[in-house]
Amino acid sequence: MDSNTPPPPAWWRDAVIYQVYIRSFADGNGDGTGDLAGLRARLGHLAGLGVDALWITPWYVSPQVDAGYDVADYRAIDPVFGTLDEADAFLAEAHAHGLRVLVDLVPNHTSDQHPWFREALAAGPGSAARGRYHFRPGRGADGELPPNNWPSVFGGPAWTRVADGEWYLHLFAAAQPDLDWDVPEVREEFASVLRFWLDRGVDGFRIDVAHGLTKDPAYPDIEESATGLLGAAADEHHPYFDRDATLEIYREWRRIADAYPGERTFVAEAWVSSPDRLARYLAPGRLHTAFNFGLLDCPWEAPRLREVVEQTLRVLAPVDAPPTWVLSNHDVIRHVTRYGRAETSLDDAKRLYGTPSDPELGTRRARAAALLTLGLPGGAYIYQGEELGLEEVEDLPAEVLQDPNRFWSGGCGPVRDGCRVPLPWSGETAPFGFSPDGAAGEPWLPQPAAWKDRSAAAQLADPASVLTLYRSALAVRRGCEDLGEGDLAWLPAAEEVLAFRRGRRTAVVVNTGADPVPLPEHTEVLLASGPLDGPLLPGDTAVWLSL
Ligand code: NOJ
Repeated sequence: MDSNTPPPPAWWRDAVIYQVYIRSFADGNGDGTGDLAGLRARLGHLAGLGVDALWITPWYVSPQVDAGYDVADYRAIDPVFGTLDEADAFLAEAHAHGLRVLVDLVPNHTSDQHPWFREALAAGPGSAARGRYHFRPGRGADGELPPNNWPSVFGGPAWTRVADGEWYLHLFAAAQPDLDWDVPEVREEFASVLRFWLDRGVDGFRIDVAHGLTKDPAYPDIEESATGLLGAAADEHHPYFDRDATLEIYREWRRIADAYPGERTFVAEAWVSSPDRLARYLAPGRLHTAFNFGLLDCPWEAPRLREVVEQTLRVLAPVDAPPTWVLSNHDVIRHVTRYGRAETSLDDAKRLYGTPSDPELGTRRARAAALLTLGLPGGAYIYQGEELGLEEVEDLPAEVLQDPNRFWSGGCGPVRDGCRVPLPWSGETAPFGFSPDGAAGEPWLPQPAAWKDRSAAAQLADPASVLTLYRSALAVRRGCEDLGEGDLAWLPAAEEVLAFRRGRRTAVVVNTGADPVPLPEHTEVLLASGPLDGPLLPGDTAVWLSL
């Protein structure tokens, strides 16, 4: 590199990060639950796919009430997933494959089985041990009413009463008590947990409920309209979501990460009311990136998609933070299923849960969406199974469902189990290579019989498969200096088409309509999400072009 060549951007500015939902990725010991042994054995799939990094959902010791988002020991691996030695070996092997690793940090709440919470219960009202959480007296003559009207995200009140009459706060399940982030000991403990994992070589952290953490010490009631799931309606006056005080915590975390070599990084899971509020998390000295849920929330319509892209780029530019693009994760209905219906937003998908969704249409759109997200500036997340074109499993029998969201919401509304079904790797019948041959345990959720055609092995051999498309897209993206970090310039296009130029010579065109449109002239196709019709780009199809 000569001295005039700018250094390449930091890896996290345009990384493609693969979300490993560990209990459903691959089962190494045959008990039906994914684990570190399974993940280590499948690292070749991930390296071959061509992603830059992995985000591993919580692997810590946990009663697993909320699939590991209820942590009882932040410094140890749950035996269901393996051991700390295996985690160390996994980190070394991932690095040897050229893959960075982010782990999931859950700072808003612990498990009710965490030693601190057990100590708090035993120590009684007024104790320092209770002070690490939010214990309050109730309202009403005998304190029989919760301290205020805050709801749990999973349904019902956010308060549970203990035997001595006090109530404790849990914004999620009762088994997930919220920590009090105004207590220095809580801050010191998480600084130490960060260092524990950074010392072991992790490349960064995904921060769970990053918009939570601090709470208004006056515990005021909230307006009915401000109770939206994960703080969708939060503003600066909200008593527990998206508060200014929470942002200050991230300055200290950034200083901790920056003291390590190798660009250790944070990604915030922050559900906020508008993209400009997301930018606050990414101001200089705070976090590196945040999930941008704009596309995940957006219907498959070019004008709406363009609005999301423009708004994202506009709000992130002033803080010089790279965008991230997300279509699915372990909390939402998979996008093949969302896109397979006439109405395609996430809210539509919740409303239409269990109604027919056309897999052919959904897959065609999902393929086009892959080229859209991987063609946009910045980084992207791939939720495991997305590269296999998996759909939501909406007909799981009631007795196998495990998501606490369902139990806390009284059984109404969609659950999150349907996007968490164990992956199909190979073979004609369940468990499709998820567990080793002859395994004693069944996969923790049953896999649809039709997934024999979706297995990684079946798709690897098929040039028209979703897996082949993802592998090709990631290879082209890696070799193309115009893609990833950089500018975007919109090109003239019909109402139902998104068209933009990347860098000097590359363009992305996405037709979200049903009818074919002409491709720009004098261009060469680098990659298409589906068959082209001569000079026409068919409906629900995307291309990357060389200009
Ligand atoms: C967000 C996680 O993605 C979700 O799975 C979990 O239930 C909540 N945070 C609570 O930790």
